Amino acid sequence: MSLESVRYSRGSLAVLNQLLLPHESRYEPVASVKEAWEVIRSMKVRGAPAIAIVGCLSLAVELESNEVKEKDQLVMFILESLEFLVTSRPTAVNMAKAAEQLSAFVHQEAVRANATSESIRKSVIEWAEDLLRKDVEDNKKIGDCGAQHLLQKVPGHPITILTHCNTGSLATAGYGTALGVIRSLHSMGRLAHVYCTETRPYNQGARLTAYELVYEKIPATLIADSMASIAMKEKGVSAVVVGADRVVANGDTANKVGTYQLAIAAKHHGIPFYVAAPSTSCDLRLADGGHIVIEERPSQELTDVNGKRITAQGIGVWNPAFDVTPCDLITGGIITEHGVFSPQELQAALTKVMKEEGK
Ligand code: MRU
Repeated sequence: MSLESVRYSRGSLAVLNQLLLPHESRYEPVASVKEAWEVIRSMKVRGAPAIAIVGCLSLAVELESNEVKEKDQLVMFILESLEFLVTSRPTAVNMAKAAEQLSAFVHQEAVRANATSESIRKSVIEWAEDLLRKDVEDNKKIGDCGAQHLLQKVPGHPITILTHCNTGSLATAGYGTALGVIRSLHSMGRLAHVYCTETRPYNQGARLTAYELVYEKIPATLIADSMASIAMKEKGVSAVVVGADRVVANGDTANKVGTYQLAIAAKHHGIPFYVAAPSTSCDLRLADGGHIVIEERPSQELTDVNGKRITAQGIGVWNPAFDVTPCDLITGGIITEHGVFSPQELQAALTKVMKEEGK
């Protein structure tokens, strides 16, 4: 059975509490938008796609039980809930984009001649369920398309990948993005090895990616972030593949802090650097990475290990959760469900797809 970050059936949502992994697999119910906001903020669930999916499904679940009968009141409740969910975490764009698209959809539904609160309720629930289904579908496309691309473009087979943070089933609705590429290469029998970084300060690599790789029996080695350059020099790394929290119009990419230094090191070693991201993580309205808001998280994530302080009281702490990799360091390309594009090609390619899909 594959790992599931989210368990959903109509009227019921539970998330795997990722703070307890790898020691304990506990699913916790999420019955309301407020509870979703809390599990996202506390990082019980994390990863750009998973954040949006849990946010939207929490609204679907709350709509199943909520008593609001009057149409305008229901619309207001939905719009306010979406606005609130967007405030949970600022850097990943997926929740903000989903909120914007779902709000526009609700406005459209509400002005239909025969619209009722029941018809709106049902449409919103189905919209959120579709997001869950489509994410897994898109990740499989990213995985297969990325794997095929690497097999054609990257020298030295089978392929060794270095990855960062967690981008697997736990960060998405299933299969994963960068980890989806790894999964696809593995299932084709073309993966030599994976190096996954610990990903300080929150250790998504050590706690979550290592767990997923062991769970899937994928040959892998954990390294501390500070070992990435020597691994590139000595361990035959064919490509670096990471996920994204927000890819903007010029291809600049916000992802877990530490991604930027990996891209610099990869360029130095002549190793292609790839970002694997669904189009739901692309924000073409921002011209460049300078406009991305970077979340700063509590200092305890740096000063404490397992709830125990390891640093001197009084030391200053800076804890940005993400950094922006400039597009010129994304030398391999951006792997999406629609194909692999250079940062320079991305905007035109996605705009064309959106036009074709009538968005
Ligand atoms: O702070 P997190 O754990 O939510 O950060 C997650 C990442 O940076 C992931 O690499 C990114 O969201 C891509 S997940 C498919």
